[in-house]
Amino acid sequence: MMHVAHILVFVILAVHRHPSVSDATVVLNVNSTASESVVLPCALNRSSIILKDLCFYWQDERKAVLYSFNGEEMPEHVSKVYQDRITAFHHDMTRGNISVKLKDPKLEDTQRVFSVYVLNRKMKSLTHICQITLHVAVPYMTISLVVNEEAMTAVCTTQRGFPEPRVSWRLRHLNSTHRLEVRDAHTTAVQDAGNHLYNTSSTIDIRGGRYRELTCLIYNPTTDVTLYKTHVFNKDKHMCSLPGWAVLLTAALLVTR
Ligand SMILES: *[C@@H]1O[C@H](CO)[C@@H](O)[C@H](O)[C@H]1NC(C)=O
Ligand SMILES: *[C@@H]1O[C@H](CO)[C@@H](O)[C@H](O)[C@H]1NC(C)=O
Ligand SMILES: *[C@@H]1O[C@H](CO)[C@@H](O)[C@H](O)[C@H]1NC(C)=O
Repeated sequence: MMHVAHILVFVILAVHRHPSVSDATVVLNVNSTASESVVLPCALNRSSIILKDLCFYWQDERKAVLYSFNGEEMPEHVSKVYQDRITAFHHDMTRGNISVKLKDPKLEDTQRVFSVYVLNRKMKSLTHICQITLHVAVPYMTISLVVNEEAMTAVCTTQRGFPEPRVSWRLRHLNSTHRLEVRDAHTTAVQDAGNHLYNTSSTIDIRGGRYRELTCLIYNPTTDVTLYKTHVFNKDKHMCSLPGWAVLLTAALLVTR
């Protein structure tokens, strides 16, 4: 058996020589929520594996090793930044599933690109079989919509989420069933330098029309979740807001549009 250190040197050299994605590489995006463990999936196209013959490792785009397996786990190869954060599934490995689980993903882990390399000892070849880009989100939890019916302006805000959300507005005229998209909203986002979270505020001017209702939508592209809040205009010019807020998948919203 080749010495572990030799394999690793071979592996690292090979990676430097063939850093690109080949046809054999499965390229995936994985979206996750901060602090919730996430499985990084990868599978061999063989189904009956003898663990002592299996040699593979996971590394990120900085070449920091997350997980290394050479007949057995090689914790000494794991980079400090991933120590105690990765678990593998030995039972699934015998069926070719070499996924690992990353505990407690953080915003610093977002956009990390993880690659899995498998060593074929007989062929002395190294195959880049999986490449996974991780997107980590912090869900937006609240949405606030304040409408000034005198000035006919509206402000929609949300706080403490990641990444920057997409804000959109829908306006329904009196005696109309259509909801118009409002295009000239003024939206700004500020990012906290410490925790990287965004606060977002969007303002619109809706003078010059008679409206039935106004909806603000805040979409988190990584969680694929939209928060929305609707304001119903009072014909008597009294403030009247729909109670509460709702979370729904965008797909569900599109159905009602
Ligand atoms: C691989 O194993 C992990 C952990 O058990 C599991 O979450 C995942 O669904 C499996 N993937 C496949 C393709 O079976
Ligand atoms: C975002 O909003 C929260 C809650 O209102 C506030 O505590 C925080 O300071 C704001 N962050 C920035 C960068 O403005
Ligand atoms: C995952 O997150 C990325 C980055 O925000 C986004 O572009 C992509 O659409 C998301 N994928 C899914 C399935 O939600």
